[in-house]
Amino acid sequence: MENCLEIFQVRRARIGDVRSIHGILMHNANNGLLLPRPLNQLYSHIRDFYVLEDSTGVIQGCCALSITWEDIAEIRSLAVNEELRGRGFGAKLVRTCLAEAVELGLKRVFTLTYQVGFFGKLDFVEVTKDVLPQKVWADCIHCPKFPECDEHAMLLELEGLAPCGTEE
Ligand SMILES: CC(C)(COP(=O)(O)OP(=O)(O)OC[C@H]1O[C@@H](n2cnc3c(N)ncnc32)[C@H](O)[C@@H]1OP(=O)(O)O)[C@@H](O)C(=O)NCCC(=O)NCCS
Repeated sequence: MENCLEIFQVRRARIGDVRSIHGILMHNANNGLLLPRPLNQLYSHIRDFYVLEDSTGVIQGCCALSITWEDIAEIRSLAVNEELRGRGFGAKLVRTCLAEAVELGLKRVFTLTYQVGFFGKLDFVEVTKDVLPQKVWADCIHCPKFPECDEHAMLLELEGLAPCGTEE
């Protein structure tokens, strides 16, 4: 696994990555795994994103940290290309976002997901959606699935995690 991580890098997204991110999200949205996001939203939220880039410069995955309220942020738009799954890249993307969340002074991070096992390995615990009122009223009401959302709400308390740049 270490060799894989050496020839791929997780870095902050740039404007030039938006169409690649959009393609990855659309592909997974078409498979019902996450919600699509329009290009204009990706441009305006590009600073939320990290990408997984291979040694040829191709974007192979992405993940966003979206601040929701004074003490809480959301992990969203997470995806790794199918051929590269199971090699630790998804975890690396999420941990990079978590390190930034700690650096920002956030206390908790949540996600709405079908990947309960994956986030469980990262110490997220399942909660009821009513512990995320800001999310529900800011975003969920615009979602085509509302109010019949079948995603699982999962939460991680950040106390004790290391900030950006101090992660191994
Ligand atoms: C979810 C996703 C990003 C995981 O990426 P990945 O690179 O395959 O995950 P990793 O290799 O980093 O896995 C980390 C750990 O989680 C485990 N894991 C991964 N997916 C899992 C799943 N669906 N259920 C249970 N465990 C899982 C891995 O086995 C690994 O365990 P280990 O640390 O004991 O080896 C990837 O499957 C994906 O892109 N899915 C489609 C889009 C999606 O569902 N996104 C989530 C939206 S919130």
